[in-house]
Amino acid sequence: MALPPDPLTPGDVPSAAVAAPGAVPGTGGESFVVTAERLVAGGVALARRPEGKVVLVEGAYPGERVRVRLTSTSKGVDRAETVEVVEASPGRRAPHCAHVDDGCGGCDLALLDPDHQRDAKVEMVRDGLRRLGRVPAPEVRAGPALAEEAFRTTMRLAVTDGRAGLRALASHDVVALDHCVVAHPLLDELVAEGRFGEADEVVLRVGASTGERLALVRPTATAVSLPDDVVVVGADELAAGRRAWIHEELAGRRWRISAGSFFQTRADGARALVDVVREMTADVLSTGGDPAPGGGDGPATLVDAYCGVGLFSGALLDPAGPTGASGWRGLAVERNRSSVADARHNLSGLPVRVVGSAVERFRAPRADVVVADPARSGLGRRGVEVLAGTGAARLVLVSCDVASAGRDVALLAEEGYRLVEAVVVDLFPHTHHVEVVSCFDREPL
Ligand SMILES: C[S@@+](CC[C@H](N)C(=O)[O-])C[C@H]1O[C@@H](n2cnc3c(N)ncnc32)[C@H](O)[C@@H]1O
Repeated sequence: MALPPDPLTPGDVPSAAVAAPGAVPGTGGESFVVTAERLVAGGVALARRPEGKVVLVEGAYPGERVRVRLTSTSKGVDRAETVEVVEASPGRRAPHCAHVDDGCGGCDLALLDPDHQRDAKVEMVRDGLRRLGRVPAPEVRAGPALAEEAFRTTMRLAVTDGRAGLRALASHDVVALDHCVVAHPLLDELVAEGRFGEADEVVLRVGASTGERLALVRPTATAVSLPDDVVVVGADELAAGRRAWIHEELAGRRWRISAGSFFQTRADGARALVDVVREMTADVLSTGGDPAPGGGDGPATLVDAYCGVGLFSGALLDPAGPTGASGWRGLAVERNRSSVADARHNLSGLPVRVVGSAVERFRAPRADVVVADPARSGLGRRGVEVLAGTGAARLVLVSCDVASAGRDVALLAEEGYRLVEAVVVDLFPHTHHVEVVSCFDREPL
């Protein structure tokens, strides 16, 4: 495959390390050749110096031999950047978007083809679960294939001179965009045509199935120019109590999603996550809730922790939905007020109670199934204690960070939760970001 037109072209490799011009102070200006083993958290490649010390390399892909220049050094690990590709990965490709050459940092794996990206992410998760999760041979597989272009229904963009853009790689500079390959067409139109006055930032959100569109402008929405159908709201107005929302339809239900609420960044991704979680809980949910599968008094209970606008409990506990769980009750826990209000609206009519609370402070009842989808920092020790306190026989963890997934797996093991399998759902093609759904069974300690 032809290499992209950038400075990373193959060349002769002197065997000894050499001093590079323009070296970062303290690194000795060293330049040397390494083989990238795999991508690790943060999207950098792990390689080893000849004496075995780990060096984390920017701009290299698994299997590649690259000449690097040291950018920092410490006792445990060195960091370096690629200055020349000596032997390219067969997955290296020309950029999929013209803005890569402009320096746009939105897609940091832009030069790796999607099949190799997926393989690298599965390996990244396996590595995280092995090293941080302390599972010797974790079962990890790729989930359903999702679109690689035109998929994002939510984007947070920086604003420069009134135009929306994305930050350049490792920089605060903003690259203004006239088209974004990954944006859903309804959103891409707003990226191209929107003008946002004096704003610093804008969050654009569209309903792929409803066509509704919303712009949340920070700090204030003045001199904003957008098509007439777009609901425009300033962050200052939201803080003063204004409500603004769009709707999305997926997984058999209609979802109200307010400007201040979390929702997955792509509608097909939300649907794929629901499908994977449903698959991992179907055997328990289909048993029916009376008597509860784990025994004990009261109805069978599902806890939807970090529920956002109610996605998982709404999809799983809808008696008219494909799971058809009957006799179950749900407890959906969320601390963000806007999301709590949406969840109460979205789940009305279902046997689900929405609890406005931080999970860490939630007095968890006995439960049979837990679905937990925490923020990037993961469950942490307290979150694990609370959710394990339910005694649920099945726990499904949705993680958006490899390192926190690994740490949570280790903490859950201390509470008797054995990892059955992990499924990587590639919500964020062309970036190193990973979404992984892990299924656990509780075993006697
Ligand atoms: C990754 S989102 C998942 C939302 C939902 N499950 C979905 O898929 O749409 C995480 C959610 O957890 C909420 N959250 C973050 N920390 C929390 C905490 N400590 N306790 C309860 N909710 C929290 C956030 O407000 C956000 O809505």
